[in-house]
Amino acid sequence: MVKFSEIKGFTFDMDGVLADTAKFHTVAWRQLAEKLGVTWNDDLQERLKGIDRMGSLNMILAEGNLENQYSQEQKEALAAEKNDNYRQLISTLTPSDVLPGMQAFLDSLKANGYLMSVASASKNAPFILDKLGLADYFVGVVDPASLHAGKPDPEIFVRAGELLKLAPEQLIGLEDSAAGIQSINGAGQTSLGIGNPQVLSEADLNFESTAEVTLAAIQAKLG
Ligand code: G6P
Ligand code: MG
Repeated sequence: MVKFSEIKGFTFDMDGVLADTAKFHTVAWRQLAEKLGVTWNDDLQERLKGIDRMGSLNMILAEGNLENQYSQEQKEALAAEKNDNYRQLISTLTPSDVLPGMQAFLDSLKANGYLMSVASASKNAPFILDKLGLADYFVGVVDPASLHAGKPDPEIFVRAGELLKLAPEQLIGLEDSAAGIQSINGAGQTSLGIGNPQVLSEADLNFESTAEVTLAAIQAKLG
């Protein structure tokens, strides 16, 4: 494990790490799944975290053995329908929807000269960061439309590190999804998982909630 003193920057997932939006993705996907006759379950809900829009739809269809039932055009219409519902749900986001402790954490990173970027699979990320009043903290936001492969592929976290011009060993990536932790690990960064440590067992560092994530706590774990 790297030493705390080597760390110079942080790469952030957004949904479920910075923004309290994972619940809205769940509401919108569940509504679509049930309309298609796919039974919702906790395992599916967990596996969808971090997965891009079309990948998520494909996982839902596979859950109901429906993967060959829809043309590409129909799938695009279903994904657009989910996104319209999701956009409705996030239209009321305000800075009070920043997850507990994250505003203070970002402030402490800024005050201590760390660089930050965003590695979110969401095409809605710039809109959400703006709504939450967080956009100015970040050197850059990776455009997920420009990726060859989404999480768990390392590409998005590699790109988030490149935005900061820092080496992987100098970075900590924060994630609430198993797919995202795999992406961070593949990019060679130190992975910090937020949530159930059993689900995020591949993370280098584990925190049960965003409220526990502070520089002091990270330093205590890394040494
Ligand atoms: C994040 C979320 C996923 C979501 C994906 C795409 O990774 O964890 O649940 O499906 O972004 O989001 P979008 O807003 O582009 O549909
Ligand atoms: Mg997430």
